[in-house]
Amino acid sequence: MLKLQNSARNSTEWFETLTRYTHFEALQFAYSLLTRSQRISHENLRLRDREWLETVERWFWKRATDGKSNTTAPPMFAPFRLRDMEVMNRVTVSPMAMYSAVDGVPNDFHFVHYGERALGGAGLLFTEMTCVSPEGRISPGCTGMWNADHVAAWKRIIDFAHAQSKAKICLQLGHSGPKGSTKLGWEGNDVPLDEGNWPVMAASDVPWSPVNQVPKPMTRADMDAVRDQFIAAVRMGLEAGFDMVELHAAHGYLLASFITPLQNKRTDEYGGSLENRLRFPLEVFAAMRAAWPSDGPMSVRISATDWAGDDGINPDEAVLIGEAFAREGADLIDVSAGQSWTGQQPVYGRMFQTPFSDRIRNQGKLATMAVGNIYEPDHANSILAAGRADLVALARPHLIDPMWTLRAAAQLDYRDVACPPQYLNGMAQLARNMKRDAEMAAVLRV
Ligand SMILES: Cc1cc2nc3c(=O)[nH]c(=O)nc-3n(C[C@H](O)[C@H](O)[C@H](O)COP(=O)(O)O)c2cc1C
Repeated sequence: MLKLQNSARNSTEWFETLTRYTHFEALQFAYSLLTRSQRISHENLRLRDREWLETVERWFWKRATDGKSNTTAPPMFAPFRLRDMEVMNRVTVSPMAMYSAVDGVPNDFHFVHYGERALGGAGLLFTEMTCVSPEGRISPGCTGMWNADHVAAWKRIIDFAHAQSKAKICLQLGHSGPKGSTKLGWEGNDVPLDEGNWPVMAASDVPWSPVNQVPKPMTRADMDAVRDQFIAAVRMGLEAGFDMVELHAAHGYLLASFITPLQNKRTDEYGGSLENRLRFPLEVFAAMRAAWPSDGPMSVRISATDWAGDDGINPDEAVLIGEAFAREGADLIDVSAGQSWTGQQPVYGRMFQTPFSDRIRNQGKLATMAVGNIYEPDHANSILAAGRADLVALARPHLIDPMWTLRAAAQLDYRDVACPPQYLNGMAQLARNMKRDAEMAAVLRV
């Protein structure tokens, strides 16, 4: 019953916000209409009308390759360009803190972790939130980018990934702000350290929770110092060989503490209106942009809603936030949600944050990445073909399966995926077995 109600609500919303899609080409408009309830997916459409779906796939690939490709293949494997960087497919390993560094230095764990995921076939890998200063870390285990040891350790990882795979790598830079000085993720999320806590700062003196420290409201001198740390980290990222940089302005950390009215209680030019609350985050982003090559892509991760109704950021404001960062040179809006206050009431479900990406992409006419409970190849293809995002990011599925993209290629019988030559025999066997399973399932259905 709940599923039926959800489908009906999605469908109604599609009709109510139809103007968001009227600039689509006819084929994509039809696809968007057919998949509007989220109950009918890419593979459902293939079962209903294979020929028509293949026309959509060819159209998608033609657009993705400036008319060069006549391929009929799943959208998730089509390339995507951001400035001078081309990613070979639309699958991204979402940023995930590993809480395993010492003094911010990535080690052998990170080398294997990122190396494995680079070999796994995703087009783009994000690092975990890498912090611009020791005090900017969430926990003592967070990776950093504030000294030469960090540059050298990251360079080793990137050199491996570039030599052994075609994956591109994006450095996610952040500062923990009011959520800093806490335990490793698995020891207690957002719980202060038993000893050795360091002072934290934020937009205002609003603690993350009753057990967290009261942060120091940032002075202009603090803002200058933090902005300069981000600039230095971007330069180090360039030296280490990263392909792309992302600013983490989501999830209640330092920059998000300025954006959300739930944390920002300032009465100066950095508080009050959305324009004021965005002033410092935009200043940081613009400074990073100036330090990063003009042909290199940059993105920003935002929380598109605080899950607090109109007391917090709502999805309409998220479009304005995306547009503001785009004006400062952001090429991609990485659309996450929530984690910006402890009272949040998220509405979970498959692809639950994708509607926010859809809104920012099609209302703001911006490139977006969707994330959040996207775990099947069919989800990815449906989101991309319907124009709800340009890239899809998967976090938890990649924790447990670094080869998620190769497995998806086997499942969809797509042969042109970048499989390491060392693993080709395994791919061939997996593809054969999955094809046989699919044929058996089809026989049983009849
Ligand atoms: C272990 C773990 C660590 C995470 N660390 C980060 C992080 O460092 N930066 C970030 O922006 N998001 C982080 N996230 C959020 C993910 O990138 C992603 O947005 C979220 O898990 C939803 O995607 P999923 O449903 O595919 O897991 C983390 C998630 C997990 C599970």
